[in-house]
Amino acid sequence: MPPETLARLGEAQVEEALRALYVTREGSSLRPEEVKKIPQLAGLLPVLARTRRDPVLVDAAAGRAPVGLMAAKLLGWSKVVVIEREPGRAASARRAADRVPGLNVEVREGDVRDPESWPDAVDVVVALHACGPAFDVVLDQARSRRAWLVAVPCCYSNAIAFASVARAWADHLGVATQAPVRRRFIESLVDTERTLRLEAHGYRVSVQAFVPPTVTPHNLVWKAQYVGPSRRADEAEARWASLVKGPV
Ligand SMILES: C[S@@+](CC[C@H](N)C(=O)[O-])C[C@H]1O[C@@H](n2cnc3c(N)ncnc32)[C@H](O)[C@@H]1O
Repeated sequence: MPPETLARLGEAQVEEALRALYVTREGSSLRPEEVKKIPQLAGLLPVLARTRRDPVLVDAAAGRAPVGLMAAKLLGWSKVVVIEREPGRAASARRAADRVPGLNVEVREGDVRDPESWPDAVDVVVALHACGPAFDVVLDQARSRRAWLVAVPCCYSNAIAFASVARAWADHLGVATQAPVRRRFIESLVDTERTLRLEAHGYRVSVQAFVPPTVTPHNLVWKAQYVGPSRRADEAEARWASLVKGPV
């Protein structure tokens, strides 16, 4: 589907496609979590469509793979690989893919940390609400392949490797101890580290809202394309290095 057509992609079209994938019985409905995905998919698919034409797409930490399946169904992408570690969700994604004739979607039950889970060549990596450290793993897997990255974070848990350094920065700078203020500061530093890491490795990065924050508090999408070495990358590398070193 060309980007200009996709720009007019409406929620009704998304809902119809989701129903074809996930509704198994006549008269039954989409699950509430799938209904919540409708505006998110309507916002995210146009971002995805502006990467490559019919790429090898990996939908990483895919859950029941709404993004990968919709890329196959609505964008007509023919080389989609889904990676999800939870067996029930992977099986559900596989059943949904089988429900729609002609979709070329391979579902791999596996961990995004495991290189064996990934296909040899990847053009575009998408991750919608990759939770905690999964976002960082997906980011690194994409950048090690110089693939496009279209990724939306989810929760910012202490399992994120950089979280302890971010807390140290908060203490060092005397950030207010009131939980909401401190949490925002730490989440922003985690997002800064991710952005600088991509830039330092030769990526051009944009961060934009793909839905209003009333739809999901995690409403920012990182869209990143490998463009190679540059002065900007060198500067980002210096800033990234002093950030991850922590306060001295
Ligand atoms: C919040 S859900 C989002 C699922 C889907 N992208 C969506 O938007 O509906 C995050 C998913 O990532 C999966 N996940 C988390 N860490 C993972 C890992 N290391 N490898 C593979 N999948 C992972 C979880 O099992 C879960 O299904």
